Amino acid sequence: MSQPAKVVVVMPAYNAEKYVASTFNTIVAQTSNEWEAIVMDGGSKDKTVEIDLKAKKYFSEKSYNDYLIKGGLPGVFSIRDAAIRKEVGQHAAFYFIRWAHVAEAPLIIALCGDSGNRAYHRYLHEDVGLAGAQIMLQATALGLGSCWVGGLDRPAIAAILKLPENVELVGLLTIGFPAEEPPPPVRKPLTDLIHYEVYGNRRSDVAATPGRVPGGVLSIALRRLRLPVRF
Ligand SMILES: Cc1cc2nc3c(=O)[nH]c(=O)nc-3n(C[C@H](O)[C@H](O)[C@H](O)COP(=O)(O)O)c2cc1C
Repeated sequence: MSQPAKVVVVMPAYNAEKYVASTFNTIVAQTSNEWEAIVMDGGSKDKTVEIDLKAKKYFSEKSYNDYLIKGGLPGVFSIRDAAIRKEVGQHAAFYFIRWAHVAEAPLIIALCGDSGNRAYHRYLHEDVGLAGAQIMLQATALGLGSCWVGGLDRPAIAAILKLPENVELVGLLTIGFPAEEPPPPVRKPLTDLIHYEVYGNRRSDVAATPGRVPGGVLSIALRRLRLPVRF
């Protein structure tokens, strides 16, 4: 038997108490109960995150807070405010080039990680990069376009977004309805990209031997003493 489709409504919000409430009330007025609504708050100063909703009765199993992604925390947050987006757009630049599409995008997502955490900071770029890739895939699934912007004046944008010292800005994502639909770029052949077994071996039919790990007797002994742990 086919399941009813679930509708997911994602609401980037900034000082939007009026609209968030009416959007929730519109959603709950629909005939289908198969919905989920996510509010991505960009650090609102109004009651966006604490609205007394008519819809609250629909949050019996999950509290409203579970549907809320609050801004201003390390991680991912959305920049909806037009003036802030414009300001950020001025510093989305690389030497003498400025990416015009950044200031024009209706939503900018700043991808940040907590570099103050001594364990996490080693993996910050993988973690935030993976989160960004998932956001881009989800945007595409929703019919939206996105662009990763890495050419940035990071200190300037960190100042605009009031990022504390321990919050590192990895990149920006612009999100919006695509202005054009270009054909997919020509992909490089895999043979140009893959090294088989070890670096430099471009042929899958050629055997390879591993390289030698540097270090003396002591480091070999220490490696042998490591305990294998399984999770
Ligand atoms: C690491 C990285 C940094 C990027 N930085 C910028 C940027 O600063 N400005 C910009 O307009 N696009 C930027 N892009 C987007 C690329 O210009 C290009 O649109 C995107 O990679 C898609 O093209 P492709 O499928 O040929 O890779 C960046 C992409 C990547 C992967």
